[in-house]
Amino acid sequence: MKSFQRVPLLAAVSLAVLSAQAQNKEVNIICSAQAAWCSMIAVTFEKSQGIKVNMTAKGSGEAIAQLAAEKANPKTDLWFGGTGDPHLQAAEQNLSLEYKSPTLSQLHPWAQQQAEQSGFKTVGIYSGPLGFGYNTELLAKKKLAIPKTWADLLKPEYKGEIQSANPASSGTAYTMIATLVQLMGEDKAFEYLKGLHKNISTYTRSGTGPIKAAARGETVVSISFVHDGPGEKAQGFPIETITPADGTGAEIGSMSIVRGSRNLDAAKKFYEWALTPSAQALGAATLQFQLPSNKETKVDPRVPDFRKIKLMAYDYAKYGQTAERKRLIQRWEKEVNSLPH
Ligand code: G6P
Repeated sequence: MKSFQRVPLLAAVSLAVLSAQAQNKEVNIICSAQAAWCSMIAVTFEKSQGIKVNMTAKGSGEAIAQLAAEKANPKTDLWFGGTGDPHLQAAEQNLSLEYKSPTLSQLHPWAQQQAEQSGFKTVGIYSGPLGFGYNTELLAKKKLAIPKTWADLLKPEYKGEIQSANPASSGTAYTMIATLVQLMGEDKAFEYLKGLHKNISTYTRSGTGPIKAAARGETVVSISFVHDGPGEKAQGFPIETITPADGTGAEIGSMSIVRGSRNLDAAKKFYEWALTPSAQALGAATLQFQLPSNKETKVDPRVPDFRKIKLMAYDYAKYGQTAERKRLIQRWEKEVNSLPH
């Protein structure tokens, strides 16, 4: 009887051992950067560390929605890239895990500040400024001037010629709204967004949709992170970028470990690896030109020069709050997106 009783117990123990052995042999990552970079880090990490990477691509807004939906039973171990505001929001909602990397001191102050502001539940991995992309050939053909300020985008000659992303799915578009609110004050910013709406042809799901469309001649102007321009240009497209002379904001692209991760050791290994200069250099190697967060990472000459940009002091803590992001996106849906073009 005794030994009979022991069987299920033994089975349970060996199952637990087996599942522990299966753990940390793989890591499930949501990647909110561009696909080429996501694939490159997955392949390189897998080869060098012997840990399988299961990678899913999601925009920043979609990524946080998925993590919130998985909260009780997380399937994701780590969230790599995407704008910093939703990473701060994930920290506030306790969707991410506190982790103080020994590498923190090697990072630029803005990346460390991102970590401190979240109670060390996220960290900056790159930064890049918001601005405009424009197709040089289309602009010339349509005899349009290069837009130099936010105000320029409201001119009637740009009607139907501009694309932006949708702030519900895209961190890029949310950065635009938060930037305008900080530059102009909230009510003026919403008046501005209503005016801009008249000139917008489409709001894309992904933040890079508009600059890809501009590069390919499907729209003249895009509202985009300007570090996404040189990668399109390197592929032979007639695209240039500019940052608005009246000031702009920047993202702090971030990385977070998911609370409840089933492959925590593997997630930490990936996290540490992603902060090394050699891993960060894979960005430029795949034509991604954000400023890397590790001070030792080689900076490609195509990375935008922040010293030449009129950058405002973006309040990351405020605009990374769940209530603030939700409220601004709802206001945009109600007052702007519902209007006819
Ligand atoms: C691109 C940019 C990244 C940015 C991301 C945000 O991949 O290169 O710097 O973080 O877009 O994507 P989203 O779709 O959320 O706007």
